[in-house]
Amino acid sequence: MERTFAIIKPDAVERNLIGKILERIESKGFRIVAMKRTKLTLEQVEGFYHVHKERPFFKDLTTYMATGGPVVLLALEKGNAIASWRELMGATNPKDAAAGTIRKDFAVDIEKNSVHGSDSPENAAFELSYFFSLTEIQP
Ligand code: TYD
Repeated sequence: MERTFAIIKPDAVERNLIGKILERIESKGFRIVAMKRTKLTLEQVEGFYHVHKERPFFKDLTTYMATGGPVVLLALEKGNAIASWRELMGATNPKDAAAGTIRKDFAVDIEKNSVHGSDSPENAAFELSYFFSLTEIQP
């Protein structure tokens, strides 16, 4: 069993897509082992995306995630969860995303791309602990 961290981003929450996205997650065999709907502060988002702080899109990304509206934070569990969730999300740019992926079907553009997923075991551990305490994650 592996755990990964996911976010349903503001663009998807705003368009009432929480249920549709959770349904895809559960259908793929993930257990949702923690979940909260919340609004992130700019400080929280900047800390979360610190690996991207030198990237040209950092300012727009952090502003969008903090002011675009509420998000849903998720801890997901499954064998090979990290790669499996990234496959279900699809490519970063929805134009490049494969058919049947969440980003292909729901994302607006490369920034408003509906979902986040950890890209490595190290980042998954960091991201899960950034938003969830140990006692909030229940198998
Ligand atoms: P990245 O980690 O490259 O993508 P992914 O979310 O697929 O792991 O980038 C993080 C987020 O930054 C991405 O989901 C959307 C945003 N972003 C942009 O707004 N513009 C860009 O050119 C890139 C590469 C990312």
